[in-house]
Amino acid sequence: MTTKQDCILITGGYGFIGSHLIEQMHHQEPGTMILNMDCLTYAGKRANLAALQVPERVINLEIDISDAIAVAKIFKRYPISGVIHLAAESHVDNSLHDPGLFVRTNVIGSHNLLHQAYTSWMNGPHDAKPGCEKNRYVQVSTDEVYGSLGPTEFFTETSPYAPNSPYSATKASADLIVRSYHQSYGLNTGITCCVNNYGPRQHHEKLIPHMISKALAGQPLPIYGDGQQVRDWLHVSDHCRAIELVYRQGAPGRTYNIGARSESTNLDLVIRICEILDQKKPDPRGRSYKELITFVKDRPGHDRRYATNADRMRTELGWQPLIDQHKGLEQTVQWYCAQILSSQL
Ligand SMILES: NC(=O)c1ccc[n+]([C@@H]2O[C@H](COP(=O)([O-])OP(=O)(O)OC[C@H]3O[C@@H](n4cnc5c(N)ncnc54)[C@H](O)[C@@H]3O)[C@@H](O)[C@H]2O)c1
Repeated sequence: MTTKQDCILITGGYGFIGSHLIEQMHHQEPGTMILNMDCLTYAGKRANLAALQVPERVINLEIDISDAIAVAKIFKRYPISGVIHLAAESHVDNSLHDPGLFVRTNVIGSHNLLHQAYTSWMNGPHDAKPGCEKNRYVQVSTDEVYGSLGPTEFFTETSPYAPNSPYSATKASADLIVRSYHQSYGLNTGITCCVNNYGPRQHHEKLIPHMISKALAGQPLPIYGDGQQVRDWLHVSDHCRAIELVYRQGAPGRTYNIGARSESTNLDLVIRICEILDQKKPDPRGRSYKELITFVKDRPGHDRRYATNADRMRTELGWQPLIDQHKGLEQTVQWYCAQILSSQL
């Protein structure tokens, strides 16, 4: 029998980051029950949770977060004491084609969860129900909410929000609603704004897996614009450790930026992927994968540079990235190669 303190709702657990977070959290404390709420869009896969050590501690709820009635039923049925919200439409390119879907999931769906947490845990503004005083809601957001940077600055938690794509605008909207529930009602919330993640199990539409699968198929590697857009890359397991720290120890109402200070241009990143492939999986025709790089029309609203100052994570919560980007990228490329080649057998 689980107690109220032990039931954590994680949304988006069949996706890339959510599956790593559930893997990390589900077996640490005996008695912890994790609910995974994920409606399995094209981006989610049941197989992402296939290797759990203690699968009976995770209950999978195939529910759409934009369905307010279904979300309310789950809060009535389970003694949820914490929410870590990751479920989202997450691909910028898709947001340019169907922004309405992003509003539905990332704004309306996020509000449904937040409102259920508020009404389940509190009698009214600043009045927690007995036993719910420590319940906590964490919104997993992105550094893209801050918009684009020049060559030398860094985003801090006080940088103004200036989203440029429908994806980042919907994430920013949800963050602001989370903020308002803390300010107006005293809900115990936290927000994380993280840089780009890499690692196993990312959907193949995203830059790193996309480039690896194209390269292995001998197809052109399409780079948007001049490829000089700068991104900071953090291994997914470092991100998940940070999310859990914010959930367990973060101050109420506070935002935490998460980053690796490991910036590279998109072009340099793809060149590094090609070099790893040249070493680990040489092209049968004897050419370097770099020869497949081609430049294509830039996407609209493409931010030039993101870079995040993660000092608050380091000083307040003692977090720092543990995975060296060089090694992490090499292992990640090898993981995708193995996946792609085994799917061809
Ligand atoms: N990937 C990154 O680099 C990155 C960086 C910073 C922040 N984030 C944020 O982290 C979160 C997770 O990102 P990801 O890369 O793992 O995404 P993902 O696209 O891999 O996974 C999203 C998951 O959410 C589920 N989902 C989508 N719509 C849903 C709905 N309406 N109801 C229920 N489930 C739904 C999908 O089925 C999928 O399993 C997102 O909120 C994203 O904004 C991602």
